[in-house]
Amino acid sequence: MDLYAAIERRYSYRGPFTDDPVPDEDLKRIVEAGLAAPSGKNAQTTSFVIVNDPALVKTIGSMHPENQALRQAKALIAAVIDRRPEAVYEGFSFQVEDCAAAAENMLLAITALGYCSVWVDGWLRREGRAEKIGGLLGLPEEKVVRILLPVGVPAGEGPRPAKKPFSRRAWFNSWGGE
Ligand SMILES: Cc1cc2nc3c(=O)[nH]c(=O)nc-3n(C[C@H](O)[C@H](O)[C@H](O)COP(=O)(O)O)c2cc1C
Repeated sequence: MDLYAAIERRYSYRGPFTDDPVPDEDLKRIVEAGLAAPSGKNAQTTSFVIVNDPALVKTIGSMHPENQALRQAKALIAAVIDRRPEAVYEGFSFQVEDCAAAAENMLLAITALGYCSVWVDGWLRREGRAEKIGGLLGLPEEKVVRILLPVGVPAGEGPRPAKKPFSRRAWFNSWGGE
């Protein structure tokens, strides 16, 4: 799929998945897209745990009953960062930005391969969910799951929120200009 087609087709899918499996080769290709993302100072701070054990996928998915995509996912990709980030440039850490770049690359790869996903991040931060999932995945104490991407073949179409038009968010040369 052309890059711009993937950009246009990607959206947050929270609906049901079909029973079609997601082969390991596709999961690897998706994570390779994450590994290829840019990172501040090329520190490559994000690590990935690919969850394709059906029992483990189910245990994690059932923690979020309102999100059918998570509940019915065929696989999950956990993007993992440090709890206490290391400064890589002038006292700054870029690990959150690194992780976001990897997530978007993976979402585009997921779309290009005909799957759907949703960036699950806010939900992880409440009620100790990131810690609980980190425990299930055997993360060392210094690591935390920052983003979870469910992956599967969508059983239908979900709602696509409208994006504000170009003219309200982007301008040439000066803020609010032409
Ligand atoms: C940093 C970040 C955190 C997000 N956290 C969640 C989340 O916890 N649960 C969820 O269902 N969607 C989450 N999303 C998805 C957004 O709700 C979604 O991207 C937004 O509504 C725009 O819709 P679209 O992705 O279909 O364009 C998150 C997205 C981002 C970028």
